Amino acid sequence: MTIIFATNNSNKVAEMRAVLGGNFHILPLKEAGIDIDIPEPHDTLEANATEKSQTIYRLTGQDCFSEDTGLETTALNGEPGVKSARYAGDDRSFESNIAKLLHRLDGKTDRTARFRTIISLILSGKEYIFEGICEGRITEVPSGNSGFGYDPVFIPEGSIHTFAEMDMAEKNRFSHRKKALQKMVQFLQNRQSHA
Ligand code: IMP
Repeated sequence: MTIIFATNNSNKVAEMRAVLGGNFHILPLKEAGIDIDIPEPHDTLEANATEKSQTIYRLTGQDCFSEDTGLETTALNGEPGVKSARYAGDDRSFESNIAKLLHRLDGKTDRTARFRTIISLILSGKEYIFEGICEGRITEVPSGNSGFGYDPVFIPEGSIHTFAEMDMAEKNRFSHRKKALQKMVQFLQNRQSHA
């Protein structure tokens, strides 16, 4: 099965392809010949994910899915959350976002946080939502060069390493995105076996 993935983020595509077996092929926007930067104007991950998948469905009429992810810290009441990409400004700089987060957490004893991914899948015009959560904590200083976004400051529960100190296979042992994706794949497999 081939399905359009409403993203231009090559890191997300690589992580998802590493999880998917040969039965499912995902086609990011560029490879599907779609040149668009879909806005994320809403105040929930769910609404932004829906906006992205509906936009692509309206454009193509094809089955597709999107995902939206946020980092939610306990001490900052869920910040940066849905604003994770533009936390420090519209240039979406990973370094500035991390610097702002560490500054805001300075002196806080509770460093717990979680990544939350929402996938919105559209099949024949009907929407299905899947969620994946990875609990962990924010470090005092960034460490590691792999991955993207907040990976250098996030240690998942059950590890002593940041996501940025892991290779993709190891990150995917814990990943929020992988958990949401696995739920979607399970759903698609169940549908295929009942078709
Ligand atoms: P979006 O889903 O592209 O809107 O992601 C929002 C922001 O969250 C991104 O710009 C990244 O900074 C961050 N982010 C999303 N997923 C991850 C991840 O797996 N690791 C680290 N940061 C992430």
